[in-house]
Parts: sequence; C-alpha cells; structure tokens
Amino acid sequence: MHGILLAGGTGSRLFPITAGTNKHLLPVYNKPMIYYSLSTLMLAGIRDIVLITSPGDVDRFTALLGDGSHLGLRITYRTQTQARGIAEAFLIAEDIIQGYPVALALGDNLLYGSGFTGLLQSAVLRLTLSGGAVIFGAKVENPRDYGVAEVDAQGTVIGLEEKPREPRSPWAVPGLYFYDARVTEFARALAPSARGELEITDLNRVYQQSGGLHLVRFPRGMTWLDTGSPDNLADAGDFVRTIEKRQGIMIGCVEEIAWRQHFISDKELLAVAERWKATPYGQYLAALPADAAH
Ligand code: DAU
Repeated sequence: MHGILLAGGTGSRLFPITAGTNKHLLPVYNKPMIYYSLSTLMLAGIRDIVLITSPGDVDRFTALLGDGSHLGLRITYRTQTQARGIAEAFLIAEDIIQGYPVALALGDNLLYGSGFTGLLQSAVLRLTLSGGAVIFGAKVENPRDYGVAEVDAQGTVIGLEEKPREPRSPWAVPGLYFYDARVTEFARALAPSARGELEITDLNRVYQQSGGLHLVRFPRGMTWLDTGSPDNLADAGDFVRTIEKRQGIMIGCVEEIAWRQHFISDKELLAVAERWKATPYGQYLAALPADAAH
C-alpha cells in the first residue's frame, strides 16, 4: 500500500503565521506538524510515501525529510500548483499510486490514542481482503467545520456532507482515508464543487454509492485534533506537551516509530540521535534502545 501526505494549500486561516512559511512545518510543541500525520502512515505499516506540497515549499520538506531513507521510507515529492481540493492528490500522485491501494493523510491532522495502531492494521487488512474504502468517524462538538457522516444503527454510512450548516450527526470524518486501486479512476470523474475544489467528501460518496464504504467510529480513547487555526494549533501543542511531560514518551516521533516498526536498526536510530544530541529530542532517541532492553 502507498501513502499520500498532503501538505499544500494556502494555510489562510493561520495568516500571518503562514504568509512566509508552509503551515505543515510549523511546530506542534516540539516537532514539525507534518511529523504527526507522517507517523500515522508509518503506524499503518506504509513505507512508500508521496508528499504533495506547493511548488515553492518542496525544498523545505526535502531539507526536513529527504528521500526518507533515514526512516526506512521511500519519500517522493509532487507538487500542487493551486489548492484545487484534497481529492486532486490522487491525480497528482497517479503515476506512482496507479494500481495500488492507497492511504491519504492530511498534513494538519493529529491522531493519537490507545488501540490506534490496531485500528490502522484492521483498515489495511480490510482493504487488502475486500477493497472499497475505509474512513473514520470522530464525535465532535463542532461537526459543521468538517465532513460529516450520517450512520444508521448498524454503523452503515447513509449520508455524507461537507461542512453542513445543519449536521445530521456529531460524527466528523478525520483526515485519514484508505482507498482501493479504483481511487484514481473515481477521482478523475469528480466535478469541482461550488467552491471550486475536488472534494474528498464527494469521493467518499462515490464509494458509499458503490456499496464499498466502511466507516470505523473512534472509541472514546482516541483523540483527533486538527491544527488549522491559531486556537487549534495552540491546543494541539498543549495536548502533546501535557502527555509527553506526564508520561515521558513522545507522540508523533517518526524516528522512534521507524525504529519500533523495524524500518531502521538501532545503529540507524542512534545516527539520527547523534545529529540532535544537544536537544531533549535527540537525547530521547539516543536512550530508546537501552530503555527497551529493561
Ligand atoms: O480535517 C478533516 C477535514 O479536512 C475533513 O473533515 C473535511 O471533510 C475535509 O474537507 C477537510 O476539511 P478542511 O476544511 O480542514 O480542509 P482544508 O482546506 O483545511 O485542508 C486540509 C488539509 O489539506 C490541509 O493540511 C491543507 C491540505 N490541502 C487542502 C486543499 C483543499 C492541500 O494540500 N491542497 C488542497 O487543495
């Protein structure tokens, strides 16, 4: 399975912070925002990743993540010249993902919780065995800010709306989507919405209408945050800081995940740790192999 990490757009809700930089490189406490969504794809076992960003920002992401080999990944870069919608990602990455199932992670989302890796593995297994699409549902206070799924008593999706004025349910759809290999064909058939974008919610509706859409509702122990406004960004930083300080573990630490997933060896992990040894981040990485031995 391939992964797409979407890190384009204008970040206009964060102006002037994003007037001179890409939103997904902003810090969420102690790491760049993009680490959190990248870690989600890695926890799903995905190693082939296409990172899509604006043409002017490719160099910055390359400086941060390179070709991904230090994380045991293969990262390829593609550009989106204008924010023509989330579903355009499948057309931009088509030459790479064609013929494969694919997971799309929005670069401004943060997912964390007990059992999350198991949910990801189940989604990958379902796609491999039955195809179709897997999306998630998270109960929120402000569903009108998101894509919203209406679900019947059996958990079947009976309706999907993008930012509805009057949401029919509290179940928002987070920015993590799994699709079978038909996704490029379905994305090509989409028409731009009234706001001129290829909407991810319209793509999900195509899968729903073909009978292949599966929605997994997050249990209470799962946290979903998006980081697209100043308040959400600050809240996400506070959340990460609180958990990390209390538990002495890191959230969204891609080097640690690469090591735990056996994408990289102890030696490779320690090589990265050495580069950042002056920081608590580097020191945390350096201590991991010895900690695991106890
Ligand atoms: O966060 C989940 C929500 O993300 C979903 O519930 C909605 O259904 C989905 O439409 C989306 O809503 P947003 O209003 O948050 O989308 P936004 O325009 O903020 O873009 C989300 C991410 O995708 C952000 O990291 C920027 C990136 N993006 C977005 C567009 C439209 C791109 O890279 N290119 C684009 O053309």
